[in-house]
Amino acid sequence: MNLLDGKRVLLGVSGGIAAYKSAELVRLLRAAGALVRVVMTPAASGFVTARTFQALSGEVVRCDWSDDRTGMDHIELARWAERILVAPASADTLACLAHGRADTLLAAICLASEAPLLVAPAMNQAMWRHAATRDNLACLQRRGVQVCGPDTGEQACGEVGPGRMQAPEMLLQALSDSFASGRLAGLKLVITAGPTREAVDPVRFLGNRSSGKMGYAVARAARDAGARVELVSGPVALAAPEGVERVLVESGQEMLDAVLARITACDIFIAAAAVADYRPVAPAAQKIKKQAGEWTLQLEPAPDILATVAALENRPWCVGFAAETEQLELHARKKRMHKGVEMIAANLVGDGLGFDTDDNELLLVWEGGERHLARAPKSRLAVQLVEQIADLYSHSMTTDETPADDAKHSA
Ligand code: C5P
Repeated sequence: MNLLDGKRVLLGVSGGIAAYKSAELVRLLRAAGALVRVVMTPAASGFVTARTFQALSGEVVRCDWSDDRTGMDHIELARWAERILVAPASADTLACLAHGRADTLLAAICLASEAPLLVAPAMNQAMWRHAATRDNLACLQRRGVQVCGPDTGEQACGEVGPGRMQAPEMLLQALSDSFASGRLAGLKLVITAGPTREAVDPVRFLGNRSSGKMGYAVARAARDAGARVELVSGPVALAAPEGVERVLVESGQEMLDAVLARITACDIFIAAAAVADYRPVAPAAQKIKKQAGEWTLQLEPAPDILATVAALENRPWCVGFAAETEQLELHARKKRMHKGVEMIAANLVGDGLGFDTDDNELLLVWEGGERHLARAPKSRLAVQLVEQIADLYSHSMTTDETPADDAKHSA
């Protein structure tokens, strides 16, 4: 399966004849839905021009420190990347990476990034076999760097042996596979996302600013972790993530019905939707006409989907979200107990965080524990959240407690 849809991949291109193959790799990555930014070493531009990568990636290409316009571009790129692939990785670049050098822009980005690093070595077969290269490779592998290839065959220099860069299709597959953790393999997850719309009349509704970005990111991360994901989504401007079954709904009641229809045999329920708390008591059948003076709209509580699921007899392990404007931890802990769920992921709204933004910051609270996830793109937070859920879920499965028992402790 293609797990690259929406992923942010930084492609490092170092000096080598194989650099021309990286142009095809950019094309394949883009076709798979990945966002690609290319950083070349100065030596690479002797083989392929930045313009080629610029045209194929649709992004500015950086080659040198002079391209670090703000002086902080390298840090921004290091944070932006979810994966870094250096292809081709020359003997010189491998040596730089092994020694933690930061003299080229690419090496500095690799040093500053927490993203998993993959390298696709490409060099003359004698250079590849040299003890220095072997040591550098061993050092990188010890640090968790994934080495792709090289292939064996005829080389540009006329020699035959190992040192050809792995084919772009193989590198694409390696990148895609690197997103598959398998932590939730075999599990069914139901996730809600986005806002709801509560009809006032046929043309008006009560809604909210939720973009659905967080819930969709969680759905992708859960899918990447091997889960079967069913996403119940309010109206959003986002495409259904590949490999995720999505059902679109409008109102809170429709969302509840869609969730309940899918909750049997569901292992984990994540309520990321911003569901209306109140809805009009009697939506008008016809458009309400403007009148002089004040107008009062009577509201009634809308169904609480999370609390309803958490109260089911054979209920899944439940995670709720909480958007707060103050006293985050206190409100998150109260909400967890009040709703009777295993975990609350809370975030402060405002200051460029929360609704309709690409970044977020989360405080996860569960019985006897908490974890702060620092400000980061929602896609990265979603991966961390899913890992934490997988940890706690697998722990709960090895103890005697059912989700219902745990909720009793919490209540
Ligand atoms: O009570 P509050 O709205 O702050 O709780 C937020 C959490 O509850 C979120 O996980 C949200 O998806 C869920 N929720 C719900 N149904 C509602 C209101 C909130 O599932 N009607």
